[in-house]
Amino acid sequence: MDALTRRDWLRLTLAAGAGLALTPGDLWAQGTLITRAIPSTGEPLPVIGLGSSATFSQVARQEDVSALKSVLQTLLDGGATLFDTAPSYGSSEEVAGRIVKDAGWASRVFWATKLNVAGRGGSSADPAAARAQVEASFQRVGKAKIDLIQVHNLGDPATQLPILHEFKKQGRIRYVGITTTFDQQYDELVRIMRNEPLDFIGIDYAIDGREVEQTILPLAQEKKIAVLAYAPFGRTRLFRRVADRPLPDWAAEIDAKTWAQVFLKWIIGHPAITAVTPATSQAKNMIDNLGGGMGRLPNQDLRKRMAAYIDALPGA
Ligand SMILES: NC(=O)c1ccc[n+]([C@@H]2O[C@H](COP(=O)([O-])OP(=O)(O)OC[C@H]3O[C@@H](n4cnc5c(N)ncnc54)[C@H](OP(=O)(O)O)[C@@H]3O)[C@@H](O)[C@H]2O)c1
Repeated sequence: MDALTRRDWLRLTLAAGAGLALTPGDLWAQGTLITRAIPSTGEPLPVIGLGSSATFSQVARQEDVSALKSVLQTLLDGGATLFDTAPSYGSSEEVAGRIVKDAGWASRVFWATKLNVAGRGGSSADPAAARAQVEASFQRVGKAKIDLIQVHNLGDPATQLPILHEFKKQGRIRYVGITTTFDQQYDELVRIMRNEPLDFIGIDYAIDGREVEQTILPLAQEKKIAVLAYAPFGRTRLFRRVADRPLPDWAAEIDAKTWAQVFLKWIIGHPAITAVTPATSQAKNMIDNLGGGMGRLPNQDLRKRMAAYIDALPGA
């Protein structure tokens, strides 16, 4: 739990979220946040991060962004570091960048953004526009080095991956990656993973969305590529699917106190996963999600039983 004392944590989280479903004490009882090594360097990364599309980006459009500041503060003071954003997530990158800069938190955040300058009419993206977008990301967060930039949704990797590698060579980017959450792009992602040097990929992975287990996750392990798991709840899909059902008995075996923690622990239970980035606009849900990275994780046998339980529920 970093340098936080128990009293600091209590003060922070009580201020951050009225009406907490979970108490900070519950989190302390579960221990500290699990970390996984980034395969290309061995650097430890806390397994729970924060995404910034969905509700985070809706709130970023509003004038009062104090709720997002509380979410980011909860992330950092809970011992996590990873913030996943993109220039295309509305105001998320700009607003979070301003919060982090103003609060002096930039050095504490593992800042993961993306590059997504589209080419016109299917042509290659303009390299100058791609470089300008990367420079704009530097301005927004005010870090001399951005931790991770990924080519977003396989947007013109032939142009954009070499540009990101140039920035990495200059020491301005620490890690390079590529993302997609579209099944129809998986074959191309696999081709790129086999042929290009990559530190990270970002893919969608959820207890009811397991396609990446076939080829992508084993290949990531083989090629020593870190994996960020996106859309862990399928936005609201999984919560709608479990509705108001009580947690099954097996949730206690993995110290999961909420459905969100069940979904997160199931993902982290796969050894290829480096971190998962649920998006939230609420500090109380950030606390809940941090609990998903603490305590016991399911073994492969329990993961199968958990997925079977969800599969048997009516669709979302
Ligand atoms: N191609 C790509 O690069 C790509 C694609 C998809 C996603 N991503 C990344 O992955 C992140 C996560 O994916 P996502 O935003 O699509 O969906 P998600 O994380 O699966 O779901 C976000 C939704 O879950 C709710 N939520 C969060 N924590 C909760 C909790 N503990 N209990 C109940 N509800 C909770 C949020 O609402 P509240 O605000 O009310 O908590 C929001 O409605 C994105 O934000 C983005 O950073 C990247």
